[in-house]
Amino acid sequence: MKDKAQFVPKIEGNEISSFKTTWSAPSNIALVKYWGKKELQIPCNPSVSFTLDQCRTTTSVQFKSRTAHDHASLVVQYDGKPAPSFEPKVKTFIDRIRPYSPYLEDYDLQIDTVNSFPHSSGIASSASAMAALAAAIMDLEKQIYPSLTAEDQIKKCSFLARLGSGSAARSVEGPLVLWGEHTATPDSSDLFGVRWTKAADVFQTYRDTILLVDKGQKEVSSTVGHNLMHNHPFAENRFAQAKAHYQDLLAILENGDMNGFTDLVEREALSLHAMMLTSSPSYILMHPNTIQIIQKVRNFRKTTGLHLTFTLDAGANVHLLYPEHEAEQIGQFIESDLRQYCQDNELISDRVGTGLKKT
Ligand code: PMV
Repeated sequence: MKDKAQFVPKIEGNEISSFKTTWSAPSNIALVKYWGKKELQIPCNPSVSFTLDQCRTTTSVQFKSRTAHDHASLVVQYDGKPAPSFEPKVKTFIDRIRPYSPYLEDYDLQIDTVNSFPHSSGIASSASAMAALAAAIMDLEKQIYPSLTAEDQIKKCSFLARLGSGSAARSVEGPLVLWGEHTATPDSSDLFGVRWTKAADVFQTYRDTILLVDKGQKEVSSTVGHNLMHNHPFAENRFAQAKAHYQDLLAILENGDMNGFTDLVEREALSLHAMMLTSSPSYILMHPNTIQIIQKVRNFRKTTGLHLTFTLDAGANVHLLYPEHEAEQIGQFIESDLRQYCQDNELISDRVGTGLKKT
């Protein structure tokens, strides 16, 4: 494993008394899934994701030199309104990253955050939220240590985001991100995500329509799900499968092989859910409408030969992935045959994106 000590500042920094910055970070959708971790989000297998474009969290942070003597204060707002329920999670995150960003000790923080996607859409916002917050903190670090290179700033941003939520390591750059060590990609690391640009053009503009089958909170959190991989009877085989899929997928992406993509990505999604079905206790996050959509997608593919592919997160919602040049026909099919399976007929139209934006 590459050394964590590289992320601890080693020189004297500038004194900055007040600084405000705003960053927007996207969500991401894994193609090869991360499921199972060692402590503090060290993944049990490498993963690959598409970075999204429209599903984003925008976060402003006001850093002010600490006024109280004993501890720094923290205030969180969501969309301009006090959100004290978010504060414990942010505090845990700040405590966890303090060894790498010790200057945070000196600041009171006022955080204002908002998601572009509906607040209760069943779309996990922790990846985009943690990446946006990490980006704001790294912007402060750049003010304190101006010699920090853009490359190191990005790398540490992903490293910090990972400490908040594993998949957040993949929400910093785009269009595709690798996270987790694998001998096939010597640059990849368990500690942070790295951008991967070798995919054929067709995959750099892929669409993702997210069918909101269930907008509520899921019954079993990802944290619980990751933990159930300890002592899971199929864990070792699953990690080996994901490692093999990782290498196979990179070749598929590089070759522009859309049929290979469909086959592998759908098996990955169903393998993730198979782990949930066979854990102890076992649980099911797919809904009847999730299965209806999957069947319809497969039938549509058989009859049209178009490259519509589904994947799933740890929830009931379905991500539909397809190439831009097939968007018109596939869009009509989504409207006529699939939208009806969404709660309140709601879906989100997204596409592959490029990562963080400073606003
Ligand atoms: O980052 P977490 O702890 O929410 O875990 C994410 C797990 C999956 O979304 C199911 C898969 C992935 O790789 O994003």
